Parts: sequence; structure tokens; C-alpha cells
Amino acid sequence: MSDLSGKTTIVVGASRGLGHGIATAFAEAGSRVVAVSRTAAPIADPAGNTVPELADAGGPTVAGSLLDRYRPEAVVLAAGASPHMRPLQHQTWETFSVNWQTDVRIAFHWLREALLTPLRPGSRVIVVSSGAAIAGSPLSGGYAGAKATQRFITGYAQDEAKRAGLDITFSAVLPRITPVTELGRSAARAYAARDGRSEEEYLKQMGPLLTPEIAGSAMVELVRTEAAAVAPGYLLTGTGLKKLP
Ligand SMILES: NC(=O)c1ccc[n+]([C@@H]2O[C@H](COP(=O)([O-])OP(=O)(O)OC[C@H]3O[C@@H](n4cnc5c(N)ncnc54)[C@H](OP(=O)(O)O)[C@@H]3O)[C@@H](O)[C@H]2O)c1
Repeated sequence: MSDLSGKTTIVVGASRGLGHGIATAFAEAGSRVVAVSRTAAPIADPAGNTVPELADAGGPTVAGSLLDRYRPEAVVLAAGASPHMRPLQHQTWETFSVNWQTDVRIAFHWLREALLTPLRPGSRVIVVSSGAAIAGSPLSGGYAGAKATQRFITGYAQDEAKRAGLDITFSAVLPRITPVTELGRSAARAYAARDGRSEEEYLKQMGPLLTPEIAGSAMVELVRTEAAAVAPGYLLTGTGLKKLP
């Protein structure tokens, strides 16, 4: 899908952070953008191609009704809850499971509806998981497991699409922790404190930081990549996308 003009992209979790950068990048690339979040936030879009949709993306009918209404060629699921940054014994079941109730729930509903609708041939679906799905995340309760489940079910959706002869490409993108969003900043602060380091020291050893702009360019690049060359999973850092084995 090299040319995005005249195409529609739904970005879920577009009001701030990485999702806001992704929505902005798709609008700049000429796509109509349906920006889904519970709170409104303007997206720089001189062409007026952005449509805000205020909704809880995990609601049982939200994915189906927005996919029916907009018939998008690309869907990016970036929404996620901020985990409660505490060691295991200081979590409650409710704090431990917050990313299952939000991130996994959203991915489940949207992947399922992408298959059932189904999205049109040639469509792309990208699920924003996390590098924590590989490395673990001992201070954020069930976060790493929830993000690993998002990656698994993205693969399951790809298998189901192939079995049904649907030409839809699904990929999971695993960003590395970045302090430029609310979610990433509280995680970086918690891990720095646990290591007895300053936040600056902790961040320095991480190399070039991922920004919403880099995330946006990477997602546009991925949607523009020929489907046959798209991998099931990618790591996303400040230097861009890297295919996962
Ligand atoms: N930042 C990092 O270091 C990092 C690292 C690895 C992975 N990630 C992943 O990247 C994604 C984006 O993270 P971020 O750091 O950009 O987070 P963020 O700044 O907290 O933004 C989260 C976005 O998700 C939306 N959202 C949350 N729950 C929603 C719901 N039920 N319905 C609709 N929208 C919802 C929020 O909008 P509203 O509140 O307005 O609804 C907001 O736009 C998440 O999946 C996160 O797990 C982040």
C-alpha cells in the first residue's frame, strides 16, 4: 500500500503519546485518519482529513461499529493502560490485571472484528505490544504478560486470516520503553529508582530514545511495505523498526 492518499487509517489510542504521533504521521502521509480515544486531542492536520471518535475502544460494540462505518485499509491499535508501578507483593489483583482489562481486551475485540467484518483485501492491522513482552517487566504486574498475549493473538489472527483466504496482514510492534510518554516516564522513573540510579543515568544507557514522531514514521513505513515482506513482529526503538525472529 505505497500511496496512502484516499485511504483510511483507524488509530486507536490517538489522543496522546505514541498513538498521537502515529495518527499525525498517517494524516501527514495523506491518509484520512479516524482518531479513537476516550478524550479529545487535536491532531495537526492541515488537510482536514482527521475524524475524532470518542469511545472506549474496549467496549463490546465499538470495534465492529467503527470498522463498519469507516471500512479502513489500515488499523493501528496503540491504546493501552498505564500499569501500576509496584513490585509483585504490592500489587492487588485489580492493579495486576489492568493491562489485561484494557490492552488485551482492545486487541481481542479489534482483531476479532477485523476477521469477522472482514477488512477489505490488502488491509493492514498493527498491534502495539511492548518490548516487555520479551524482556519481562517486574515492576508492572501483569503488563508484560498482557503485551505478550497481544503479540500471540496478533499471530493467531494472521493464521485465521490465511485459513479463511482473507488477504489481511497482521503485525505486532514491540516498542522499547521511552520516557517521552506518560506511561513510559513512570516506568523509567520506577526502574531507575529500583536500580539506585538517577533517571538520566538510566535513560543514557538505553541509547537513542523512541519518540512519537519516530513511532509514526515507522508505522507509515510498515503499512507502505509490500505485504509479502512484512514480518509478524518488530522491535521499535529510537533507530526504527527491527524484524523479530
Ligand atoms: N511509552 C513506552 O515506553 C511504551 C513502551 C512499550 C510499549 N508501549 C505501548 O505503546 C502504547 C502507547 O503507549 P503510550 O506510552 O503512548 O501511552 P499513553 O501516552 O498513556 O497513551 C495511551 C493512549 O491510549 C488511549 N487509551 C487508553 N485506554 C483506552 C480505551 N479504553 N479506549 C480508547 N483509547 C484508550 C489513551 O487515550 P484516552 O485516555 O484519551 O482514552 C491514549 O491516547 C501502549 O499500548 C503501551 O503499552 C509504550
